[in-house]
Amino acid sequence: MIVLGLETSCDETSAAIVRNGCAILSNTVASSLEFHKKYGGVIPEIASRMQLETITGITESALEKAGKKLKEVDLISVTNRPGLIGSLLVGISFAKALSLSLNKPLIGVNHVYSHFYANFLNGEKIRFPFIALVVSGGHTNLFFVRDFDKIDLLGQTQDDACGEAFDKVAKILGLGYPGGPVIERMAKLGDPKKIKFNCSGTKNELNFSFSGIKTAVLYYARDRRLSLKHKQDICASFQEAVIEALIRKAIAACKIKKTPRLVVGGGVVANQRLRKKFHQAAQGLDLKCYFPQTFLCMDNAAMIAGLGYQLFKKGYRSDLNLSLDLNGRRVC
Ligand code: KG4
Ligand code: ZN
Repeated sequence: MIVLGLETSCDETSAAIVRNGCAILSNTVASSLEFHKKYGGVIPEIASRMQLETITGITESALEKAGKKLKEVDLISVTNRPGLIGSLLVGISFAKALSLSLNKPLIGVNHVYSHFYANFLNGEKIRFPFIALVVSGGHTNLFFVRDFDKIDLLGQTQDDACGEAFDKVAKILGLGYPGGPVIERMAKLGDPKKIKFNCSGTKNELNFSFSGIKTAVLYYARDRRLSLKHKQDICASFQEAVIEALIRKAIAACKIKKTPRLVVGGGVVANQRLRKKFHQAAQGLDLKCYFPQTFLCMDNAAMIAGLGYQLFKKGYRSDLNLSLDLNGRRVC
């Protein structure tokens, strides 16, 4: 089954062709990041305008790279939640127009769930149930996943998302946007033990909080003249504390649910230090950690096509009333 995936929940416009939920024939991504940089964050109006201008070309390019024609597409799978209103509307409207004109089925997919689905692309076999940790610019969630349509929320951030904290700390240190990649680069040259930063505790041990550590960095940096070395140490110490909190909570969830499989996804998971520390922590615990290929950590349409296929196989369908659902946790 050939699925066209469409993803426009934040600043990316992406289209992908995926066969049978796992073989990526193409995965084309355009980002409006360059236009947001000077503002230090994503400006929704700029994102949706760019998406409107690029979605047709991106889709044509995905089809061409896959060597497929529109009429060969069997299903159209589109992100319809959560995300920026204008951005989501561009993808949903485009998907509905294609579905109507081609007379092909349509399915709306939850972007957050698709982040852990990225692990299933290229044929990885992972047994249910498992714990999923999604760490992105907009979300930090722990799920107990019994099937692709049976997903229980165990914990979530009480304030900033993890990627958002990376972005804000980078802004405080004058390192630019997005913060994750530059903090990782700086951290490689810094001492992670130099400054004692901690993520705040939460009432529910499976919830997260990142605004406290961000403020701690702000207070630490505010009254000092920071040398490059000093900034590298701050980045390394901040990154280490965040990774430590993510590992601690993910392992706690695995223990509570007695699940030896941990499936991780989202933009922050592109971080190599994070991967290394997770693998180290899992050793000796009889726990297997799964990570997507790095290029599948960021927002992309292949993960939307893949999850859409799995839900379609289970009998889920959307119709032309499909709309956005800003905070919805439904699977379809
Ligand atoms: O999943 P994603 O592409 O978009 C959302 O759905 O939010 O995640 C983007 C986030 C940004 O906050 C970015 O700073 C962070 O992922 N990120 C990283 C790294 N690469 C991207 N965070 C830490 N280390 C990285 N290497
Ligand atoms: Zn995302």
